[in-house]
Amino acid sequence: AKEQCHEFVVKEATVTRLCGTRRIMTVNGQFPGPTVEVAEGDALIVRVVNRGSYNVTVHWHGVRQMRTGWSDGPEFVTQCPIRPGNSYTYRFTVAGQEGTLWWHAHSSWLRATVHGALVIRPRAGVPYPFNGGKPPAREIPIILGEWWNMNPIDVVRTATRTGAAPNISDVLTVNGQPGDLYKCSSNGTTTFAVKSGETNLLRFINAALNTELFVSLAGHTMTVVGADASYTKPYATSVLMIAPGQTTDVLVTFDQARGRYYLAARAYASAQAVPFDNTTTTAIFDYGTTTNTTSTSSPAIPTLPAYNDTATATSFTTSLRGLRKAELPTHVDESLFFTVGIGLFNCSSGQTCGGPNNTRFAASINNVSFVLPSTTSILQAHYAGGGAASTPGVFTADFPANPPVQFDYTAQNVSRALWQPVPGTKVYRLKYGAAVQLVLQGTNVLAAENHPIHLHGYDFYILAEGFGNFDAATDVAKFNLDDPPMRNTVGVPVNGWAVIRFIADNPGVWLMHCHLDVHITWGLAMAFLVEDGVGELESLEAPPSDLPVC
Ligand code: C2O
Repeated sequence: AKEQCHEFVVKEATVTRLCGTRRIMTVNGQFPGPTVEVAEGDALIVRVVNRGSYNVTVHWHGVRQMRTGWSDGPEFVTQCPIRPGNSYTYRFTVAGQEGTLWWHAHSSWLRATVHGALVIRPRAGVPYPFNGGKPPAREIPIILGEWWNMNPIDVVRTATRTGAAPNISDVLTVNGQPGDLYKCSSNGTTTFAVKSGETNLLRFINAALNTELFVSLAGHTMTVVGADASYTKPYATSVLMIAPGQTTDVLVTFDQARGRYYLAARAYASAQAVPFDNTTTTAIFDYGTTTNTTSTSSPAIPTLPAYNDTATATSFTTSLRGLRKAELPTHVDESLFFTVGIGLFNCSSGQTCGGPNNTRFAASINNVSFVLPSTTSILQAHYAGGGAASTPGVFTADFPANPPVQFDYTAQNVSRALWQPVPGTKVYRLKYGAAVQLVLQGTNVLAAENHPIHLHGYDFYILAEGFGNFDAATDVAKFNLDDPPMRNTVGVPVNGWAVIRFIADNPGVWLMHCHLDVHITWGLAMAFLVEDGVGELESLEAPPSDLPVC
């Protein structure tokens, strides 16, 4: 295993998209940012220098960060933001995970443009579990994203001020480009050169802020072999559904007639009442020209499911199986039931708010709408308090294990009182090593939507998913305890539920949130405080000397 050093300079760069030129935040002037490539077991040392005009942090999405919580990145959760002119060095090891992860800013909506791929290959001498054990001929990171003509920070600031829903993006992108269906976009269209007969590994990342995506490649079958840096049993499909935060690795054999083939992605918009970006982004796979090619004709756009095709979205995600038998404990120490959903706050008297009927949009888990601290991070406060359960004024350890009221979660038109979450900075305290089972139940209090729930610091098994209200009496029979997929982000089906399990073996403070940034902005988040296995924080390293202060 190697130690790799990188420098990420966060700074503005000028880019032109959709005929307009704009200054955006980038890492090292690149958009998308640099790809970090490691072998499993490598240590990464990344110095982040903030030469931009906003506070920033960098999160290594999906990296386990075993006992390295100071390097996880979510602002005000594990660290204070890096202020303009300052720097901070992230130090961690990428161990026990192979496939594709990514990194992104974890401050406000900076991740719209501050993101990049993290490619994790098997360590030297360890074979790939596909393609006969050999590395595929080419490995291609494909980052799906969203582009706003406005500065995304201003988009979210405006929404936060007014309480209204933020503007949807102006176009979807592949590796930062809308593709040639859009004006002024032909020249920049992302093009991948492929060779006839070769098998390539496409490493898809959904870095879009607010859009779940269907993805198809014209004329070719994709075989899924991994998701969120965990291998899956090979699954052949013509369409992928990838939620924000998730990654999907697929093998494609380029065995079709020489030519150019479109890759296309478009929204899966599970909430039909909510406006969404309905654009289609494209990239081109090009076999290269030869004298006997007919590739001058324009390629065909692959067929994508309708935006509201929940059946296809769900059948894709529930078809994924772990490659190997799961290592699951036979008992559960903590059985948690969390509702995830959208609600509304009343507008303060005399104010005018932009939400429905003069309200502000809010979102919650178990009716608690998460509020970030501002004077320090939760992990810093926890450490400074010698591992105390709470720090007055920063956080409290009273996050509820169950929702405050039981009701028909997926019914519409529930009482107005249920619309209103309670703001708070609450963590749920877990004993070191506890076997945790968590039912994530979507609600339809205001609108039902597929919520991609991401847990920091852990991978979890997804035992089952379903529609309607989770019913322990009958749904336990649906648990896959044999080969459930392991992920870090689970799409809780629209008007439905998902059950996950993990062992709390990583001490620290770990954020869990909806990876639709509009929902995290509204408070659809909470954090687990996992106790140290040795004694109060004895084996958690002291904060690094360059850890930012607030
Ligand atoms: Cu990819 Cu907390 O995020």
